[in-house]
Amino acid sequence: MCGIIACIGTDDAVGDLLTGLENLEYRGYDSAGVAVQNGSGIAVRKRSGQISDLGAAIAADTPTGQVGIGHTRWSTHGPPTDANAHPHTSQSGRVAVVHNGIIENYEALRARLREEGYTFRSDTDTEVVPHLVEHYLDRGLEVETAFERTLDDLEGSYAIALLVDGEDVVYAARQDSPLVLGLVDDDETGERRYYLASDVPAFLEFTDQVVYLEDGDVATVDRDGYHIRDREGGSVDRAPETVEWSPEETGKGEYEHFMRKEIDAQPEALRGTLAGRVDGDDVDLDTLPDGTFEEIDHVHLVACGTSYHAALAASRQLVRAGLPATAYRASEYHDLQPVDESTLVVAVTQSGETADTLSALRRAHEADARTVAVTNVVGSTVSREADDTLYIRAGPEIGVAATKTFTSQVVALSLLTHRVASDSAAATVREDAAEFLAALEALPEAVEDLLATTEARSVSDAHIGRDAHFFIGRDFEYPVALEGALKFKEITYEHAEGFASGELKHGPLALVTPETTLYALLTGDRGEETLKNAEEAKARGVNVVAVAPEGMAVGGVADEVLRVPDTHPDVVGLLANVQLQLVSYYTAHGLGRSIDKPRNLAKSVTVE
Ligand code: F6R
Repeated sequence: MCGIIACIGTDDAVGDLLTGLENLEYRGYDSAGVAVQNGSGIAVRKRSGQISDLGAAIAADTPTGQVGIGHTRWSTHGPPTDANAHPHTSQSGRVAVVHNGIIENYEALRARLREEGYTFRSDTDTEVVPHLVEHYLDRGLEVETAFERTLDDLEGSYAIALLVDGEDVVYAARQDSPLVLGLVDDDETGERRYYLASDVPAFLEFTDQVVYLEDGDVATVDRDGYHIRDREGGSVDRAPETVEWSPEETGKGEYEHFMRKEIDAQPEALRGTLAGRVDGDDVDLDTLPDGTFEEIDHVHLVACGTSYHAALAASRQLVRAGLPATAYRASEYHDLQPVDESTLVVAVTQSGETADTLSALRRAHEADARTVAVTNVVGSTVSREADDTLYIRAGPEIGVAATKTFTSQVVALSLLTHRVASDSAAATVREDAAEFLAALEALPEAVEDLLATTEARSVSDAHIGRDAHFFIGRDFEYPVALEGALKFKEITYEHAEGFASGELKHGPLALVTPETTLYALLTGDRGEETLKNAEEAKARGVNVVAVAPEGMAVGGVADEVLRVPDTHPDVVGLLANVQLQLVSYYTAHGLGRSIDKPRNLAKSVTVE
């Protein structure tokens, strides 16, 4: 949902900004722009379209400089046009701003500025920011003070980077939108360069040393160093950290698409999720020691999209352990649900920045609930706001459609379930804990075996172009059916829905025709029941693709079969999901879709 980047002290600001924007393109891809201090003013280049369109425009007329800011946009206020692309500049052009977030009181600020004679060239909420800074500069304030006064005027969320003409400085601030400082600070060579970005992958090929800015931080960065202060002007000391992700992980390598790379990376991601955490029939989570959840007697999981499907799978495991547990779509989590200090609220979010999930978490805190974040991104907002964090350690995910992070989320949540069940007096650890945990540990190899199969491509070829694609499953396979359908619709743009198998005959059967494909998830303990539901649909002419364990007889019902290696019935659904990821991928590929950047979507949804 919009990405910002800034660089200070580089030899080639435009080159570094474009690299950063390409790395951030998954956050938004309907327009982009850069602004650079080029010695004779601030040079701005911006375009609707992809970063490559901006690159082509810049190639024709490249500004040079060592300090600059850039932005890739996912529209919230105003359509994707050149005028609405960032950076936005003040009336005189001496202030340029990039912004991620939403200025909620922008209409009132526009009205105030218009009365003072300012004119607006875009429909965006952001444009008030450069005008306000200029307004305060015109009143004789120093830049830092003008910027702070501007921040005082803003209501809403922001990560802002700002240039003022003639200064080799970037001014930045963060409130409810992520902002990270990257440092190249080599005492031996004396080399000093700095980057600011919405997300670490933006500058990972330049440095792995980062400082995570926090809400209320205001930073001034020039080539001699950086200074962070709070909104009262007091200095803030934030220790640099080393990021463990490597630049190779954030690149496409030999792959045509990030999504395919990330599907294939699932064994490695799972090894990261599990490393050092399973010990026989016990689980060792260093951030969540034994006894953490003694006071807990019920659990709420809050999440959106794919993460919600992982949360739903986890809620079933928790209920089996005897704990009342409900997964809520974070945007539907509100005052009606009873929350108190005996509630564990688990916020599941790959990015750690999803606005709906963060707002559900804040509501949980207001009610004194115990909170845990389950996330992939170190230093993300959710990890800083939750009482505790369990990292899924899946490595960076760039494709907008979540794949490896779903698998790792479900496994991490399985480990969390074990910890909660061990601690809480209201719950019981599953009797087959040793077998279940062993199956989780064997999952990376099972996924490897599955990835060596080729059936998904031919299934996709056989069903491409059908009117609709339905996915059914029961129990743990129900969240997988929902996830299969979500993945399918978001990257193929075809009509896809997931249903609980038993619900088919209560309505959705009216939709099936000989032009419909039904993916029936026959894995897990209740696969035979789903097979019967598939048979009912088959009798109405639907085409059935069975996703079934080795050896299960599906001949009379299924037109095609996607086999999955046999494993524990509560784990095997994750393998079925990998088959569905592949079918979605091949179908989207066959249809020529924009697989890594589906239309209208963004990887990190930082607005409610
Ligand atoms: C679908 C997808 C989205 C995200 C959702 C939540 O493939 O990726 O549905 O799962 O936007 O994102 P996070 O997990 O970052 O909170």
